[in-house]
Amino acid sequence: MSDGVTWIEVKLTVPETDPLRLEPVDEACLSLSPGGFVMEGDDAPPGDDPPPPRGWSRYRVYVGEAQLEGAKAALAAVSSPFPGAIVEHAPLDDGWRERWKAYFEPIEVSDRLLVAPPWREIAPKPGQHVIWIEPAMAFGTGQHETTQLCLQGVDGLAAAGTLPETVLDVGTGTGVLALAAAHLGALRVVGVDTDPQAVAASIENVGKNPVSVAWAFSDTPVGAVEGTFGLVLANIMAHVLIALVEPIAARVAPGGVLMLSGVLVEQAADVIAAYEAHGLAHRHTEPLRGWVRIDLARP
Ligand SMILES: C[S@@+](CC[C@H](N)C(=O)[O-])C[C@H]1O[C@@H](n2cnc3c(N)ncnc32)[C@H](O)[C@@H]1O
Repeated sequence: MSDGVTWIEVKLTVPETDPLRLEPVDEACLSLSPGGFVMEGDDAPPGDDPPPPRGWSRYRVYVGEAQLEGAKAALAAVSSPFPGAIVEHAPLDDGWRERWKAYFEPIEVSDRLLVAPPWREIAPKPGQHVIWIEPAMAFGTGQHETTQLCLQGVDGLAAAGTLPETVLDVGTGTGVLALAAAHLGALRVVGVDTDPQAVAASIENVGKNPVSVAWAFSDTPVGAVEGTFGLVLANIMAHVLIALVEPIAARVAPGGVLMLSGVLVEQAADVIAAYEAHGLAHRHTEPLRGWVRIDLARP
């Protein structure tokens, strides 16, 4: 979202609210606009547009002029199963940056943990860690259910005094989960992501957070990451988690914990079965608004 580029908002309004049916739309928006896509339902706060009607969802993605035609075509293609879907676009006016920023409210995970963008003035509770995350070109501002489920998982381990010293975050995005672990006491965090913009964003975010841990963020494929870890986190879509079962499972140390997110309730059984077949034991499934976090352990 740097200056010098004319940014355009592309809106897709679809007559559907079922997260499972909308998953391909989420995936398309994520790849078009990794750090800045917004999804609204009929409970959206009033703004320039009225909220979409009951039973409809509206997506807003932000692209540069050069990406506009490709983005419109991608959104039209992915919404073709939904008759009546509308794709619109408009250049962003001078006030859009402030309105865009307004979407990024601080997210309080617990009395120990809060995620906030760097422009916010925050008065944390005593002992509460603030994870500063710049909502740039990578996923992971803390707004999404799948991120919140993982943050709660990491926080729960810290509350129980069982947060491992070594943490691997597969699909690190902004680095938010690795940074949560670093704030809460992990000594070594490794984050990997196939998207170079995510790697750059996570390195930038380390610089914004007062943590002193050994860290490494890179685009190393998870199968090429060396060693095993006491905690492995992976918030990626279900089909990717299943495709990566072998390398992800192999990174979990004996006695270690694996937390998987990015999974819809309906997809959980398949993901659990894939990991159980690779020696992990299912311990718990935590739901949040149609999504789940799956906790497993290596005996
Ligand atoms: C849903 S985001 C999660 C970001 C952040 N960890 C969070 O919890 O908010 C998923 C991330 O996984 C990355 N990703 C997708 N496929 C991957 C793969 N095969 N290996 C590593 N990262 C991958 C994407 O680029 C994206 O940044």
